[in-house]
Amino acid sequence: MIFSEESISALRKRISEDPEISPKRKAHILAVEEMAERLGTLYMPEKTDILRVAALLHDVTKEYSSARHIEICRRYGHEPTCEELCAPKTFHARTAAYLIPDIYPEYSDPEVISAVRWHTTGHAGMTLSEMIIYLADYIDDTRKFDDCVKLRHAFFDARPETMSDEERYEHLLNIITLSYKMTIAGLLEGGLPISPDTVFSMNELLCRKIEKGEKQNGK
Ligand SMILES: [Fe+2]
Ligand SMILES: [Fe+2]
Repeated sequence: MIFSEESISALRKRISEDPEISPKRKAHILAVEEMAERLGTLYMPEKTDILRVAALLHDVTKEYSSARHIEICRRYGHEPTCEELCAPKTFHARTAAYLIPDIYPEYSDPEVISAVRWHTTGHAGMTLSEMIIYLADYIDDTRKFDDCVKLRHAFFDARPETMSDEERYEHLLNIITLSYKMTIAGLLEGGLPISPDTVFSMNELLCRKIEKGEKQNGK
């Protein structure tokens, strides 16, 4: 699917008028759209429209109650797991992905839906658009938490715009790995469960890095 400027503006207007999204969340959503476009220009300039639509939709259910998330999950055939029930913040990525085809059918593109679906936990086998929305959500300019600021600096201070395509891709994987380390450390600290998807994704990235290092060292 290709989205025109007109259809992206119409979606932005719809989100900004949604009474179920708070002003603070709306500011975050707009900042994620900007960051997704900025990252998209570096990594997939031909698809910044898809990234902007995914950014605009990524948190549409963020402020729903846990009961509503659970009801939506069951309606779409998913029984919430104990990790989800103990960490209800992760529900919204799943419920937004479920609802897009029904509530926003004109934006129901598989790449948009998967980027929304995995923006909170990540998962093994992340695609480029999924990684970009995940990272844009983590480092958008409204985020002031220490880890978010640190990650934003780690990403941009390395000047990815000066890198070769291969270096830039490796840089993205390293930054995503760092974000998982921060997230997992924070969850452990807070005594909260860790999504298995985050663990699988981090292990995949760590193994890839180890194997690559071994190849370079001739092992
Ligand atoms: Fe989110
Ligand atoms: Fe978000």
